[in-house]
Amino acid sequence: MTHDLTLPSGTPVAEGLAERALHDPHRPRFHFTSPGGWLNDPNGLTHWNGVYHLFYQYNPLAAAHHRIHWGHATSTDLVRWTDEPIALVPGTDGPDRDGCWSGVLVDDGGVPTLVYSGRHGERELPCVARGSADLRYWTKDRANPVITAPPEGVDTTAFRDHCVWREGGMWRQLVGSGIRGVGGTAFLYESDDLRTWRYVGPLLTGDASQNQGELDWTGTMWECVDLFGIGDSDGDGTDVLVFSAWDEGSTHHSLYWTGRYHGDIFTPTALHRLDYGGRYFYAPQSARDEHGRRIMFGWLQEGRTDEANAQAGWCGAMSVPRTVTLGADGRLHQAPVPELTELRRERVEVAPGPLTDPYTPLHGVRGDQLDIEATLSLAPGATARLVVRETPDGAERTVVEVSRAYVGARGTLRLHREASSLDPTVDTEPRYGELPLDDDGRVDLRVLVDHSALEVFANGRPLAARIYPTRPDEAVGVGIGAVGDVALKRFDAWQMASAFTEGPRPLWP
Ligand code: FRU
Repeated sequence: MTHDLTLPSGTPVAEGLAERALHDPHRPRFHFTSPGGWLNDPNGLTHWNGVYHLFYQYNPLAAAHHRIHWGHATSTDLVRWTDEPIALVPGTDGPDRDGCWSGVLVDDGGVPTLVYSGRHGERELPCVARGSADLRYWTKDRANPVITAPPEGVDTTAFRDHCVWREGGMWRQLVGSGIRGVGGTAFLYESDDLRTWRYVGPLLTGDASQNQGELDWTGTMWECVDLFGIGDSDGDGTDVLVFSAWDEGSTHHSLYWTGRYHGDIFTPTALHRLDYGGRYFYAPQSARDEHGRRIMFGWLQEGRTDEANAQAGWCGAMSVPRTVTLGADGRLHQAPVPELTELRRERVEVAPGPLTDPYTPLHGVRGDQLDIEATLSLAPGATARLVVRETPDGAERTVVEVSRAYVGARGTLRLHREASSLDPTVDTEPRYGELPLDDDGRVDLRVLVDHSALEVFANGRPLAARIYPTRPDEAVGVGIGAVGDVALKRFDAWQMASAFTEGPRPLWP
């Protein structure tokens, strides 16, 4: 089946993108993906009159990052999504002729309003668009860009992405940036009307000379800054500044500072990794929903080559929506939204008891769309493993590993992807991070397997990654095992239904 799709600009859509995307065995079925073509950051996340709106960086013409549009999807349950008309298209001329880059949606006295980065050549500047009441149709301001240059006298590495909120009867905005030779930063602005902005100053600046190359390096530019309060509702809580560390055209990882936002600055307490998957959970955006929950999505980048992406007809997945709360340890605690359990189908249970073998295949559990919940208890020095997407000969397998140090309550969460694919062109680097443990060495593990998308949550610490077995139909085995003294307290696995109807989704609804 072919589609006769022509964009409003008259450009024909690349043939068969949606069909090719449909037949790719690596395409997730309960993680949000675009109908076809390229997807990156979540944008404009909002819960508006009972409807969740997810906008995203989208190229409907090819599975490559070029002339980015804003795709749009809606949901009432955060599980099933309806494709909506493309919200923003790059202009034929003007400040966004080369792309409508990331931004946010705010409620301007009842008028849905987008603040996004218009891209023209190498310049990126803040632009504004007003929406129809149903958030489907958008009109760009004639006066765009609403800020015409980065702050004067500052040598910036880049200037894009927005966090906008209401405070003391005014609008405030952060624009992600970096000061050359210093580090990443977020510039603070103030406005009465979202159109005229007064520069206040840098909210906080990183030090790019620290931790070069390390997992917590803060980069030379901060992409997609997101500032929010969390914890006590009386304002006595913690403030969180999320950003994605970037350098010279390459994405690194998302980090966050806890601390206090007061006056015009942010006083940091501690810096943490947002997700142990590094670049596989990038450019996140969060919003408070109408139930008062903080919901976050991140972009699960691909780990295969550009050619493989182009061939597949689609690329880029959203994480599942996550709730973000403040843990007793002062760190963010993340979990898939409870709504996701609506997709659970047949359940397989494994009887609790000690895990005595290094590896036992679980013949009753198989699949490439799974939700697994396990509770384990690890003695000092013990390690437990959960193997997913294993081929019958064991040549391809992905291993989630939790271990406890001999002394103290320290643990480690690891994802071994070295054997996740025999294809030498895909990324199979392992991932790991610190795992908080109590005296019983208890680990609450949740693993979402969705074709190439994998999300692990261990005691609230997330690790997202991508995996591409070369024999995807056969790589459906699951197993568990342990070395040392490990008790399995509980194990349940569910087959997950697809969130999308079968059949090609129109690229240009
Ligand atoms: C982050 C990012 C943003 C930018 C957008 C462009 O992944 O590079 O900084 O606005 O993607 O698509």
